[in-house]
Amino acid sequence: MTASGTCGYGMEDNQEEYSHLVGTEKLGAIICKGTTLKPRDGNPQPRLAETASGLLNSIGLQNIGVDALIKEKAPIWSGWRVPVIVNIAGDTIDDYAQLAGKLDGVAGVSGLEVNISCPNVKAGGAEFGANPESAAEVTAAVRAATSLPVLVKLTPNTTDIARVATAVAEAGADALTLINTLKGIAIDISRRRPLLGNITGGLSGPAIKPVALYMVYEVAKTVNLPLIGCGGITTASDAIEFIMAGASAVQIGTAGMVNPSAPLDVLNGIKEFMEKEGMEDIAELIGVAGRQND
Ligand SMILES: Cc1cc2nc3c(=O)[nH]c(=O)nc-3n(C[C@H](O)[C@H](O)[C@H](O)COP(=O)(O)O)c2cc1C
Repeated sequence: MTASGTCGYGMEDNQEEYSHLVGTEKLGAIICKGTTLKPRDGNPQPRLAETASGLLNSIGLQNIGVDALIKEKAPIWSGWRVPVIVNIAGDTIDDYAQLAGKLDGVAGVSGLEVNISCPNVKAGGAEFGANPESAAEVTAAVRAATSLPVLVKLTPNTTDIARVATAVAEAGADALTLINTLKGIAIDISRRRPLLGNITGGLSGPAIKPVALYMVYEVAKTVNLPLIGCGGITTASDAIEFIMAGASAVQIGTAGMVNPSAPLDVLNGIKEFMEKEGMEDIAELIGVAGRQND
């Protein structure tokens, strides 16, 4: 899957299909940009800073709002072979419930990814995901408002991700995405102040891979739901590490911003690995690294 916020709505601004560029119809799913009830302009510039093996972003959920998404984007998605999952974000639990209700039954929307992990917004966002009780409340509200598959995207900015994951699973999530970005900062030494307009940002890219991998590994020990690994995946071997740690699927974010064909390259690389190992079913690999340590 493509990770939310790193390939917009899966198409170019001129509405041409992204799929002809990178063959996205072969992917498991496209996760669209975080979507809120009302359109948002996002945070002040600058919003991106490169770091060693990583990227700090503070976009702040710039998006067209759910009504425009339903009117303008979903009809295009409904003609695609690749399922599109809408990443939703709100300031309150009621915002999440309303978003889920509006998207339920919309042709072209195949599922919801509940973003309780955005580090770049003042209200809501990662605050909900840092705490097991509020994470479960958001999940239950979304679950009650939709019959679509519900993925819940967790934040690494918490003390015990396994507790949050367990609470979200019990509240009715169908799958968990691990992880969103890690909160970080960069300083512009010539101006002697923070580089990003929003001061803080979210760190992504290869720099966070060991953290994300650890979180998948930990959660796989306690939660019996499909896990979607995300964080620094650039190559097929990165993806296979996540699968061996317990992920059933993976998302590619920052790597796709550098090389748009990264998600497909990873997919092809996994197939090659399986052929080389004489494997028929990816399920043979899921969680294998954790089981050996039981
Ligand atoms: C520019 C940018 C925008 C992002 N926007 C969102 C978003 O709207 N919703 C969300 O849940 N995650 C968002 N993310 C987080 C990614 O989906 C992903 O969880 C994170 O970047 C880690 O994966 P990666 O290292 O492969 O990029 C964004 C990441 C980047 C780099």
